[in-house]
Amino acid sequence: AEGLHPADHPFPQKKLLGTFDHASIRRGFHVFKEVCAACHSLDLIHWRNLVDVAFSEEEVREMAAEHQYKDGPDDTGAMFERPGKLTDPIPRPYANEEEARAANAGALPPDLSLITKARHGGVDYIYSLLTGYSDPPAGVEIREGLNYNPYFPGGAIAMAQNIFDGVVEFEDGTPNTASQITKDVVTFLNWAAEPELDDRKKIGVKALLLFSTLTALALWSKRNRWQTLK
Ligand code: HEM
Repeated sequence: AEGLHPADHPFPQKKLLGTFDHASIRRGFHVFKEVCAACHSLDLIHWRNLVDVAFSEEEVREMAAEHQYKDGPDDTGAMFERPGKLTDPIPRPYANEEEARAANAGALPPDLSLITKARHGGVDYIYSLLTGYSDPPAGVEIREGLNYNPYFPGGAIAMAQNIFDGVVEFEDGTPNTASQITKDVVTFLNWAAEPELDDRKKIGVKALLLFSTLTALALWSKRNRWQTLK
């Protein structure tokens, strides 16, 4: 069965010329790091990608250095661990699929790098899914280890509800309601999947300006040239 159709949420980046809310991307990364990163990888994003998007270079260097990365071999042929650098990827929660499935009762938490593009319904689907948990309706049996969620195709999802009021705190004082936390993490995931969106929209505005000017010029010069023949 298909999932429930998600509601249309007014994310600014969905509008024709709308761009991302970068304060929301910043809060959303915090949510990803504190909640989602325990089970989900984000393989396509490297620390450096966050610089000037949501954090200063200094802030990103500090966050990267809080994680240890395997490196090597060194001059003696030995492998070693070192603190993370800007060029390292966001760390993965599990070494491989087997470990991921073992930790999640057989289910595989998908990589979230492209999830807003990979799922039908995009940001609206992910928002509705994350906020859409409830008790199953009367007569619906949910297997042990699965959770009822009407937005998930089939209605039974291995991921339990993760976002609740107050589950993270925001340094900028934004109220940490479940809906706010969800909006921010979805905005962050949308940025991860489409980091070029802002540039695309800005180039779109320039293209509109340029082509409307050229059209006006063309119309004016056509009139000018044909004036004597009319
Ligand atoms: C699946 C997002 C936290 C475990 C998913 C899916 C999304 C998602 C978008 C894909 C749903 C689909 O296939 O349509 C998130 C976000 C999180 C988060 C944004 C943080 C706010 C977690 C945590 C865990 C987890 C903490 C583990 C404790 C899973 C598993 C699946 C999954 C096992 C596969 C579900 C299935 O196929 O039945 N998650 N997740 N997730 N997530 Fe999460």
